[in-house]
Parts: sequence; C-alpha cells; structure tokens
Amino acid sequence: MNTNTSVTGRWSSRFAYILAATGAAVGLGNIWKFPYIMGENGGGAFVIVYLLCILFIGIPVMMAETFIGKRGRSTPANAAAKVAQESGHTTHWSLLGTSGVLAGFLILSFYVVIAGWALAYVFFAGDGQFSAMALAAGDTGTAHADAVGALFGGLLSDPFKLILCTTLMVVATVLVLGKGLNKGLETAVTALMPALFILLAIVMVYSAIEGNFGEAAAFMFAPDFSKLTIQSVLEALGHAFFTLSLSSGIMMIYGAYLPEGVSIARTSIWIAICDTIVALMAGLAIYPIVFANGMEPNAGPGLLFQTLPIAFGKMPMGDLFGTVFFVMIVFAAFTSAIALLESATAYLVERKGMNRWPAAIVSGLGIWVLSLGSIYSFTGAEWTKMSLFGHGENFFDVIDYLTSKIMMPVAGLFTAIFVGWKVKRHILEQEIVLSSVAFNIFYICLKFIAPVAITIVFAQLIGIITL
Ligand code: PFF
Ligand code: NA
Repeated sequence: MNTNTSVTGRWSSRFAYILAATGAAVGLGNIWKFPYIMGENGGGAFVIVYLLCILFIGIPVMMAETFIGKRGRSTPANAAAKVAQESGHTTHWSLLGTSGVLAGFLILSFYVVIAGWALAYVFFAGDGQFSAMALAAGDTGTAHADAVGALFGGLLSDPFKLILCTTLMVVATVLVLGKGLNKGLETAVTALMPALFILLAIVMVYSAIEGNFGEAAAFMFAPDFSKLTIQSVLEALGHAFFTLSLSSGIMMIYGAYLPEGVSIARTSIWIAICDTIVALMAGLAIYPIVFANGMEPNAGPGLLFQTLPIAFGKMPMGDLFGTVFFVMIVFAAFTSAIALLESATAYLVERKGMNRWPAAIVSGLGIWVLSLGSIYSFTGAEWTKMSLFGHGENFFDVIDYLTSKIMMPVAGLFTAIFVGWKVKRHILEQEIVLSSVAFNIFYICLKFIAPVAITIVFAQLIGIITL
C-alpha cells in the first residue's frame, strides 16, 4: 500500500491530549456498566482485579496503540503499515488499523443511538416527567414502575423520536469534527470534560445527602472474595479494554496528533486513572439513590433508564438533579462519539484528499445511515432480525457482539504481538522513553501477559473453552 501520506494536526498541549483521550475513554462503560459489574463480582475484590488488568494489560496496550499512531503520524491503517515497514515487515499489518477504524465505526453506529436515549431523558427530566409520574402513581410502586417502563418502552418503539435524538447527536458530532482538531475537538473537550466532572460531583454530593451512601459504599467496596470467580477475572479484563476504548482506532489516531516530547507512558497512566476515578464516582452517584429507594442494584440496561428515573421521581428536586445527571451522560457519550468519528474523518482527509468539512459530513452521513439498523432493531422491525454464529436477535445485537466480543479482543491481541514482537525494540524505545526497569516491565506485559490473557478471554468469550 502507498504509505506516503500523513496527518499534520497536533494537540496544542499535553493537557489538551489528556482531556481528549479521557473524553474518549469515559462513557457509558464508566457510568452504567462499571458500577453494576463491580457490585455483582464481589465489590472491592473485583476492583483489585480490575485495577491489575488496567495496570498490566490495559495501559501497556494503550501505550502500544498510541505508539503506532505517533510513530506512523498517519491514520490508523497507514500508521500501522509504516511502523511495520520500518521494522522490515509487510504492510499487511495495516489491517490492525483498518479493523480498529471499522470497529470504531460500527460501535459508533449504536453508541449514538444510546446517547440519543440519554438526550431524550434530558428532556423528560427537564419537563418534570419523573416527579409527575411518581405523583400520579401515589404510593403504588408497581404503577410507578409501569409508568416509567412505559416511558422507556415508548421511546424505544418510536422511530421518529429515536431518529430525531440520534440525528441531533450525529449533527453535533459533525459540527465539532468539521472545525478540525484544535478549533473543534479541543474546544469541545476543554468545555465538556470539566463540565462533566463538575456535574458528576454535584450528583454525587446530592446522592450522598439524599441517598443511602453507607449501603452503596458497602455494596461497591466491601471486598467479598467469595464472589470472585474466574468469570469475574475475565469480566474485569474485558471491561478494561472496553472502558479504555482500546482496539477502536481511537488511541492510534489521537496518538498521531501527539506533540513531540510528550510522554506516552505518563499520559496513558493519567488517562487510565481519570477513567477509573469517573467510574468510581459514577458508582457513588448512582447507588446511594438506588438503595435509598429500595431498588434492585443489578437492573442491567434498565438501571439508567428505568431504575434511576423512578428514584429521581420520588426525591426532593429529583427533576433538576435527574436533568443534570442525564446531561452529564450525554456529555460523556458525546466526547466518545467525537473520538470514534475522528478516525473515519481523518482517513477521508488524509487518504482521499478531502477537506475537513466534507469529510466530517460524509462520515456523519455514513454513521447516520448505519444507526438506522440499531434504531429499527429496538422498534422490532422485521428487516433487522438476524444473528451471528447463533448470537443475538437483531442488527444491534450482532454489531455489539461482532465489535466487543470478536473485533476488539482480536485486534488487541495482534496489537500486543505486533508491538511486542515485530517492532524493533530500539524503535519502540525512541518513542516510549522510560527507565530500563520500567521499560522492561512494560515490555513483558506487552509480549507475554497481554497476549496470553487476551487469548484466554477471547477463547472463553466465543465459547471455545469454558473456565
Ligand atoms: N470507552 C467507552 C466507555 O467506557 O463507555 C466505550 C467505548 C467507546 C468503547 C468507544 C470503544 C470505543 F471505541
Ligand atoms: Na470508559
């Protein structure tokens, strides 16, 4: 392949890069999924395993992806090809980048739809619907739950509302991307990330005052090692990948914009720390409210969109704080959406010679069309009914399974093998500047720990082995 092109943009500072990459990492995985799986898998015991996965696998793989982008200074496929060439290997390694961009594109097609739900909930909460439903139901808990269930069900079965909300998210993403790296992405994350953090802190304080903080903290942190199974270890590893947005082209494209002299190791560690802090804060914001209202902590997808609205409806100023909460989720999802669409946009600019605006619009249109597949999966349209190797029931399930269970682990595995075994060590050392002890730890993680762990998880996930 022709590897002659490159990207020219650079983040204006190390801080801007950390904000953008943290924005990419922080999303629904932190706010909804982490608190839930943590409680299910032994609380504090799970946190310890998760932190080890982040430390020994997540961070090294993130560094490897950032290295590829930074060294190649191109969009993911081209960057991987250049890095391979430099160490005397075939440019077929570009597939690493291609699969990342493709996975990112597919993930985004349903991510914007779910972000759209959160957007719809901003309006539901802002409109006072949470408290109105609680009031109408009086003391009848089931009537209240039914009303909120009908609100969620009504949203999911209404293609017009879903398309409207999804379209708003896509248009907002395109507007940011069209403006380019410094004026668009940086401006957005500089405003949104601190706002996200403040809104989350506000909900957390509200929740500590109005909710049952003690029970929530016990649920999340009491280390119950008896609940920790081999399954939980696998869950922790899978989530470490998902939460850091690995194997999606994101760290490669964001790495391509890294200014010279910024440490890949230090920034990666910071991003992982920020992501983890947000996940812990989210748990401390959500669970006190859930417990104070005597609700189930493990409601899955319904936790955000059904359990919490019921709880907010019963609480003082619940509409206000409910609105704040869903605005925060929209911000979190939006900064991930920006990152996900950036690699497609940058690809069109770099490889097809398009200008930024047309490139952003074309990628946005592509996502919009693909998102219809997920939207109509939720409304139950006949044409979306499908499965992959017997997994899933509709287009949304298939895309979710294909990306998170197949493409992400496989790409992660090959990234670790590529950078750990194929890239010449002295080249890696030029970009990842560390003391020799620290470098060796990183190298061992990448060469041995990550590939072995990912292989086990992948084999387990697709059902080749059962632990
Ligand atoms: N890291 C995001 C989260 O924790 O919600 C999820 C995600 C976004 C994963 C983008 C992968 C991705 F490409
Ligand atoms: Na995350």
